[in-house]
Amino acid sequence: MTPRLIVMSNRVNVPTARDEGAAGGLAMALTSALREYKGIWFGWSGQTSERFTGQVQLDRINGVTSATVDLQTDDYEEYYAGYANRTLWPLFHYRVDLVDYDRDFDTGYRRVNRRLARTVDPFIEPDDLIWVHDYHMIPIAAELKALGRRNAMGFFLHVPWPPRQLFVTLPNHRQLAEALFAYDLIGFQTHEWLEAFIDYVVHDAGAVLGENGTITCFGRTVRAAAYPIGIDAQEFTAMAESEAGRTAHDMLVSSARDRKLIIGADRLDYSKGIEARFAAYEALLEAHEDLHRQVVCVQIAPPSREDVNTYQRIRETLDSLAGRINGRFSDVDWTPMRYVNRGYSRQALAGFFRASRVGLVTPLRDGMNLVAKEYVAAQDPEDPGVLILSRFAGASEQLGDALLVNPFSTDDLADAMQRALTMPLAERKRRNSAMRAVIDRENVAWWRDRFVTDLTALRDATHA
Ligand code: F6P
Repeated sequence: MTPRLIVMSNRVNVPTARDEGAAGGLAMALTSALREYKGIWFGWSGQTSERFTGQVQLDRINGVTSATVDLQTDDYEEYYAGYANRTLWPLFHYRVDLVDYDRDFDTGYRRVNRRLARTVDPFIEPDDLIWVHDYHMIPIAAELKALGRRNAMGFFLHVPWPPRQLFVTLPNHRQLAEALFAYDLIGFQTHEWLEAFIDYVVHDAGAVLGENGTITCFGRTVRAAAYPIGIDAQEFTAMAESEAGRTAHDMLVSSARDRKLIIGADRLDYSKGIEARFAAYEALLEAHEDLHRQVVCVQIAPPSREDVNTYQRIRETLDSLAGRINGRFSDVDWTPMRYVNRGYSRQALAGFFRASRVGLVTPLRDGMNLVAKEYVAAQDPEDPGVLILSRFAGASEQLGDALLVNPFSTDDLADAMQRALTMPLAERKRRNSAMRAVIDRENVAWWRDRFVTDLTALRDATHA
């Protein structure tokens, strides 16, 4: 019998048919999992209230049932804006320089996870598989076990796992790692993050490695493996070819007036390397006068987590860099840089990607990065664009046929842009079709089914 899933994540974002919202990779992947397996998607409503009531709002959108709950205002501050976004996010993206370690954040994180576990508990049936997502909710399994739940529980981390030398800067690092051992299965995006986790538990917590990816530590044995998340590549290609996709494509092409387009689309976050990208584009224009008037760089960057001050700072920096580039190089009939702080529908993005000769995905550190896969999926196979991909994005483990770059080097990145802009058609086709084969094979269904099959097998082995 197909198992029922209880999916838990901080954001619950069921994409609507038109999907004008910010449905990112996590949202698309979890929607796909819940359509296939049925069940409930539980998490935060995105709203706050003065007191935590635990009142659940049930909705059914596009065949997916969601159950959401409001957070108390100080829960939001300590758990989401605090521990999740000021502590774990920068730490897991190797930015210890930006981390705030505050005991109140830690306490709030644990309090909210306990509240969320108690709120979801009545919805759980004994055979359900519980699948928890991302760094906001690591303690959920331990909390559910404390309530007596014996279901099979899996955890998937969408972001990187940091090297142990960085992870130990977290004051309660052992407690957080121990909480992971309440799950039966732990999934990482790449082998690199899996190895970093193993390195930590073996060296700092005395873990013993067993067969088939098992790890024994803190008195429990769990399985850990890499499950790189994918996209529905065919659906994204269809979006690029849809009416809305074609309208967006034609609008961008005609506004660029035959100039080659370079595109980036990222949540406005310091981990995405947008600053480094702007610097490299400036260096490119400085070194190649022949490219003046021949290229336009479009950066789409919807603002994110605006009440965290590091996000306010990155926004100011990018505003001034974009202004400087345009001030230095623009002419009355050419603006080299279009920097747009808003989101677009997935159809429009697909059309923009197809219109662009170069796709820039250059995070300084990223768990996976599905924009890289979407850019590949959106291309016309007869005249594809070139993906420039940071070697520090999880996607680089699968997309070795992109132009892989080190985004910390402005010169390397500028050279890659120049190479991409002048790459012959045969090479563009060869690279695109090799990457296309990977994203078709290792798609979102492959990711979801591998994880759910492995978790079901663990459940059946325990109950046999
Ligand atoms: O992929 C990492 C992640 O934190 C997701 O969990 C989240 O949906 C997305 O980035 C956007 O972040 P936020 O929910 O903080 O806006």
